[in-house]
Amino acid sequence: MHANNGTIFAQLWHVGRVTHPDNINGEQPISSSALKAENVKVFVDDGSNAPDFVDVVMPRAMTKADIDHVVDQYRQAALNAIEAGFDGIELHAANGYLINQFIDSNANNRTDEYGGNIENRLRFLAQVVTAVSEAIGAERVGVRLAPFTSLNGTVDTNPVETYVAAATLLNKLNVVYIHFAEVDWDDAPETPKGFKESVRAAYKGILIYAGRYTAQTAAQTIEAGLADMIGFGRPFVSNPDLPTRIKHGYPLTAHTPETLFGGAEKGLTDYPEYSAS
Ligand SMILES: Cc1cc2nc3c(=O)[nH]c(=O)nc-3n(C[C@H](O)[C@H](O)[C@H](O)COP(=O)(O)O)c2cc1C
Repeated sequence: MHANNGTIFAQLWHVGRVTHPDNINGEQPISSSALKAENVKVFVDDGSNAPDFVDVVMPRAMTKADIDHVVDQYRQAALNAIEAGFDGIELHAANGYLINQFIDSNANNRTDEYGGNIENRLRFLAQVVTAVSEAIGAERVGVRLAPFTSLNGTVDTNPVETYVAAATLLNKLNVVYIHFAEVDWDDAPETPKGFKESVRAAYKGILIYAGRYTAQTAAQTIEAGLADMIGFGRPFVSNPDLPTRIKHGYPLTAHTPETLFGGAEKGLTDYPEYSAS
C-alpha cells in the first residue's frame, strides 16, 4: 500500500453479542445488555463440525470491569495496528456490533451511566475513542457508524437525533473521519438528505458514505457538498480494478450475492481484472 502511495486503516471490530460460544472458546458473548439479537446467524468454524451458520445466543451484560477491559483491548489493538504499519484505525461502531449495541436504544436497556439517554448510550463510544486517540492520536482514528441499518438486529428509535449527537461528539473528539454505512439492500430507503446536512453541520472532519453508490451518484454526492469521499463495497469485490474501470468507462462485472459471506475465496477474491478480449 505504501509503496503505491496508499493509505491504509485497520478496522477494529468487537462483535459483542453477534457471535457464538464456539467462536470464543466456549464463553458467553458480551454486550451492553442481556438482550439477544433476534433472527441473527453467525458463521462458526471451531474445527469440530462442518463450518456453518448458527443462531447467536443470549449475551451477558458487561460489568464496569468488562467495559474497562474492552476499552483497554481497543487501546492495545490500536497500538498494535500502528506497530504493524497501518496509518490509522477505524472503530467499527456500525452494523450491530459491540459499540453499536451500546448506541442503539433497542439493544441497550442498561440503567447505569451507559444506558438510557443519548449521552449515556454514546459514553462507551466516547471512552473507546478517547483511549485510542490518547494511544495513537485522534488524527489516526476514524469511526464507522450505521444510523439506519437494522443489520444484526440493532435499531434505534430515533436514529437522526442519536447519530447527529454522535457526529457532534466525534467532532469534539477530533477524529479524522466518520464513515457512514448506509442501508444497502435493494429496496432500502435512501438516507434522508436532511440527515446528511445536519451531520455536515455538526462534524468538521472528513465525511465518508458507502452503500449502493455508483461512480455517478458518488460524484453527485461529493459535488453537493454532503460527503468528502465515497466508499465502494460489493462493486470492489467483483471488480478488483474498480478505479481503473471507472476511469476508463470499462464495463463492471456484477457480484454474486451468495458467495459474499462465510465462504472461501470463490466469488469473493477470485474475480479477474478487466480484459478487453
Ligand atoms: C463481503 C463484505 C464484507 C464486508 N465487511 C465489512 C466489514 O468488515 N466492516 C464494515 O464496516 N463493513 C463491511 N461491509 C460493508 C461495506 O463496507 C459497505 O458498507 C457495503 O458493502 C455497502 O456498500 P456497497 O453497496 O458499495 O457494497 C462488508 C461488505 C461486504 C460485501
